[in-house]
Amino acid sequence: MTSISMPGHDRASLFSAPRDAAMVAPSILSADFGRLEVECKAVLDQGADLLHLDVMDGHFVPNLSMGPALCASLRRHFPNTFLDVHMMVTHPGDFIEPFAKAGADHFTIHVECEEDPQSLADAIRQSGMTAGLAIKPDTDFSRMEPLIDSFDLLLVMSVHPGFSGQAFIPEVLETTRRLKAMIGPNQHIQMDGGVDPKTAIECRQAGCDVLVAASAIFKQDDYRQAIAEIRGS
Ligand code: DX5
Ligand code: ZN
Repeated sequence: MTSISMPGHDRASLFSAPRDAAMVAPSILSADFGRLEVECKAVLDQGADLLHLDVMDGHFVPNLSMGPALCASLRRHFPNTFLDVHMMVTHPGDFIEPFAKAGADHFTIHVECEEDPQSLADAIRQSGMTAGLAIKPDTDFSRMEPLIDSFDLLLVMSVHPGFSGQAFIPEVLETTRRLKAMIGPNQHIQMDGGVDPKTAIECRQAGCDVLVAASAIFKQDDYRQAIAEIRGS
């Protein structure tokens, strides 16, 4: 099976150390699932920094997507690639160990889930992954604010989660700016939803350094150009 080596990408510290340039994280939600290995290899060969896995339970969001088995399969095919799991599920705690065993490097939960984010952050770290906290566009920032120091990455949702291909909600740029003023040098801000070469400019200016994009990469003919433009390089 194909495996790729990405020197310069230290899996262990991708989201827990400062980095010079913005990172581009293709969300495989818009990949052709029948050709998933080929699609993932293509985006990684053409400049992607990591892979973003959108996990949905049909309850927290009105859609179903992927689970630990798919993560394990990607880990076998891409042993050196950083796998970033975004849990759009009501009870993410149930899936920390399954995803850690499946080879995930990072695990983002939602502040709106029905569990205690602080306890989840501790459990995620104990399992060997870095921890992320996501906030939906309509959720009051005061719910995220007291938890910021406990997470390696803060994810600002720029669409209502559940589906790729939606329009970017610009109001979340203000949340990003507030976060940027509050985080430390080892923490990261990720934007997810409606990110394309145009909206990515505003995201980067607001302080976001990890840009997730599904349709703006996988629905394009030229992955290399799409990734470079989103990164701003
Ligand atoms: C939305 C997911 C996103 C989504 C992004 O629920 O969390 O990662 O796939 O899709 P685009 O980039 O097409 O908006
Ligand atoms: Zn996502």
